[in-house]
Amino acid sequence: MSVGRKRTKLVGILMMVNFFIYIVIEISRSGHQERNSSKKVIISNSVFWKPLVHIKPYWNREQHKLDELYNPVTAALYNRTVMDNINMTTMYTCEPNSQLKDEISNFDSLPDRFKDFLTYLRCRSYPLIIDQPTKCQNKPVLLLAIKSLESHFDRRQAIRQSWGKEEITGNKTVARIFLLGKSSPADDFPNLSDMLKFESEQHKDILLWDYRDTFFNLTLKEVLFLEWVSKSCSDIQYIFKGDDDVFVNTVQVLEYLNTLDKDKAKDLFIGDVITNAGPHREKKLKYYVPESIYEGVYPPYAGGGGFLYSGYLAKRLYNVSHKVTLYPIDDVYTGMCLKKLGLAPEKHKGFRTFDIMQKDRHVTCAYKNLILVHSRNPQEMIRIWSRLQDPELKC
Ligand SMILES: *[C@@H]1O[C@H](CO)[C@@H](O)[C@H](O)[C@H]1NC(C)=O
Ligand SMILES: *[C@@H]1O[C@H](CO)[C@@H](O)[C@H](O)[C@H]1NC(C)=O
Ligand SMILES: *[C@@H]1O[C@H](CO)[C@@H](O)[C@H](O)[C@H]1NC(C)=O
Ligand SMILES: *[C@@H]1O[C@H](CO)[C@@H](O)[C@H](O)[C@H]1NC(C)=O
Ligand SMILES: *[C@@H]1O[C@H](CO)[C@@H](O)[C@H](O)[C@H]1NC(C)=O
Ligand SMILES: *[C@@H]1O[C@H](CO)[C@@H](O)[C@H](O)[C@H]1NC(C)=O
Ligand SMILES: *[C@@H]1O[C@H](CO)[C@@H](O)[C@H](O)[C@H]1NC(C)=O
Repeated sequence: MSVGRKRTKLVGILMMVNFFIYIVIEISRSGHQERNSSKKVIISNSVFWKPLVHIKPYWNREQHKLDELYNPVTAALYNRTVMDNINMTTMYTCEPNSQLKDEISNFDSLPDRFKDFLTYLRCRSYPLIIDQPTKCQNKPVLLLAIKSLESHFDRRQAIRQSWGKEEITGNKTVARIFLLGKSSPADDFPNLSDMLKFESEQHKDILLWDYRDTFFNLTLKEVLFLEWVSKSCSDIQYIFKGDDDVFVNTVQVLEYLNTLDKDKAKDLFIGDVITNAGPHREKKLKYYVPESIYEGVYPPYAGGGGFLYSGYLAKRLYNVSHKVTLYPIDDVYTGMCLKKLGLAPEKHKGFRTFDIMQKDRHVTCAYKNLILVHSRNPQEMIRIWSRLQDPELKC
């Protein structure tokens, strides 16, 4: 072989090696993060090749399995035994997980709510007992989705009579829906199902799923709602999702939405954003998460009291939620899903999840330019709303 031909061959081989490396990188990228994720890209800081066995906290291990399940490169590297344990069927099973004692060293000493949460961690399908399939047929611009509990009749009614009115303002229709799970008799809750049925027939604004409505299951409420929106309200432009103890200035929300340009509107996600937070390690706190369950900082997330986002983003969040292990704190979970999409929520000053100053509490004008205030009781909601509607109001 001449020197020239040898060199050509060498160059050829080098080019092929380069091409192969390029393919490997491309495949691994597509499995790891959604592509095309606009400007606010956040690169995942987890070590991609970290072997499964070295990850200690349970949630992190489960997330690692999901990452591998959706990543063809790692899937090919592991042998069948490993991949069989993390296939689709097992990762989304609704069978109670009976292996937790072996997988989490201190499982027996965990608080009951963690045991309950972890036992059904992988299950995401629960039947809808009360549906509102025609809720979005009038093509509303804004859907108000409010997390509530069966027994909170007065809060729901106050919202209907105030900021949650389903009316047409200008040319824009607002729709309202309450998100509920079951308050289980096993937790000694009274049986309110007849009253709820009546309420739902009266107002046609209740979604009720057959799962146990607890604080840790709010994440389930989030993914079930995203599923419902993707299927039954898929043309919605904007969604406000929040608690039933907040006051929302719906007029201000609509005005804000009017000011958005197309680019911003598409991937809108605003709220009271919390950054650089992490799990609380103090056992007494509501937000306590033990070391054996989760390690790491939380991604930026918007406080669950209420946030505003686009319907398009809701569908993307639903899609990506399958790739994110359920986390017992719902707003943190939504932040994790946004991060997986390469996005981050944006802070907006109009969201006051930690309330406004005490001296302004009874000043109607203080609410005029706000979007959300937490917390307000039913009477306060009605009072603030009617004062804001007063044509005599001068601010
Ligand atoms: C990717 O971004 C471009 C430009 O913003 C857009 O036209 C396209 O629809 C996006 N694709 C997906 C899959 O989101
Ligand atoms: C492959 O499976 C065997 C058990 O059959 C296991 O010992 C080994 O660690 C596995 N290899 C990898 C890379 O996970
Ligand atoms: C997934 O795992 C289940 C339970 O171990 C097994 O029955 C099933 O065949 C596996 N599916 C695939 C596609 O490997
Ligand atoms: C409602 O929409 C129609 C047609 O799009 C328009 O002519 C009318 O001015 C709008 N009304 C208001 C109050 O915005
Ligand atoms: C609650 O009451 C309804 C109607 O009275 C009844 O059909 C239902 O079985 C009851 N639920 C439970 C869990 O007892
Ligand atoms: C969440 O709901 C499921 C289904 O009802 C239930 O089995 C589980 O115990 C609940 N989890 C928590 C933490 O309450
Ligand atoms: C969500 O996933 C479905 C099925 O893979 C796909 O058809 C749809 O375009 C996705 N939606 C968005 C908004 O990414």
